[in-house]
Amino acid sequence: MSFSIERYKEESKKLDTAGIEWAAVREHPLSKGDLFCLHYMMDIENHVPLYLSHLLVTRACMDPILTAFLACWNYEELWHGENIGKLLNLYGIEFDTQDRIANVRANLGLQNSLSILSTMAGSWFFKDFSAVYLSIGAINELSTLTGYGALIRKSGHPVLGDLLGRIVKDERRHFAFYFNSAKEWLTGNEKAQRVDRWMLDRVWVPVGQGVKTQEEVDALALYLFDDDQGEADLINLDEKIGRLPGLSGIKLMSKALYAARERASANPRWGWRLIDDEEWAIAPPKKSPGELTTRRSGIDAAAALIEA
Ligand SMILES: [Fe+2]
Ligand SMILES: [Fe+2]
Repeated sequence: MSFSIERYKEESKKLDTAGIEWAAVREHPLSKGDLFCLHYMMDIENHVPLYLSHLLVTRACMDPILTAFLACWNYEELWHGENIGKLLNLYGIEFDTQDRIANVRANLGLQNSLSILSTMAGSWFFKDFSAVYLSIGAINELSTLTGYGALIRKSGHPVLGDLLGRIVKDERRHFAFYFNSAKEWLTGNEKAQRVDRWMLDRVWVPVGQGVKTQEEVDALALYLFDDDQGEADLINLDEKIGRLPGLSGIKLMSKALYAARERASANPRWGWRLIDDEEWAIAPPKKSPGELTTRRSGIDAAAALIEA
């Protein structure tokens, strides 16, 4: 698996959706589990710019190759979220994309700012922060594309399968960048390997956790991976990450699945109640997004003026 930043810069583009049979989206049913996963995935794809805001304040971004990658990567991820949202809208689920994104962000509150500060400080204290960040990038991209593969299989929906298949191709390139960069950083650097392993064993969480609750993360894992094929996919994923120097035998996504199963065995409704009760149709934010963006309050104020 090779990666050329020059080639990536030349070829990076908005997701090509030409030929997707959007008109046929409603001809095939999606289960509540499929819809739950699609909402989760859309929210996390749309969260990338905030994730990026954490990275741009770190030591890792002194590397111009990394910042060139991030500039293209952020744009590509934007179109993943946009197109998943489009598919949901065409399926008949009504929401305004900007409202939904603002609501998710409004729920983050102070925790988001504290997290930026601690990531920034950590990166300047620990020289090998980049190794940890790049490894986490590789794990996140690989688990994202593995999750899309599982949803293609579970849903059996041809239009969704076509869309996610195209997104997976982007995610594979992202994975190749992170994996190769992490490998480069870790090779021959035992101290970085030790720090990386320690952090991944203790601090790493699955993609989306933090924006989503533990139960939402578990619901996704149980829906997509709690069968023989799903479990084998996650063991395979861990094995691939274990090929990075110093990470041999590491258990990440398979461990997360087993932990989700344990919580579900203590409470059989765990996770599934979110799917059944349609919690994917988002709880209202604790704060009004308008307080944070000014946009909604601006529109409301204009409407009030017109009415007056
Ligand atoms: Fe993506
Ligand atoms: Fe990606």
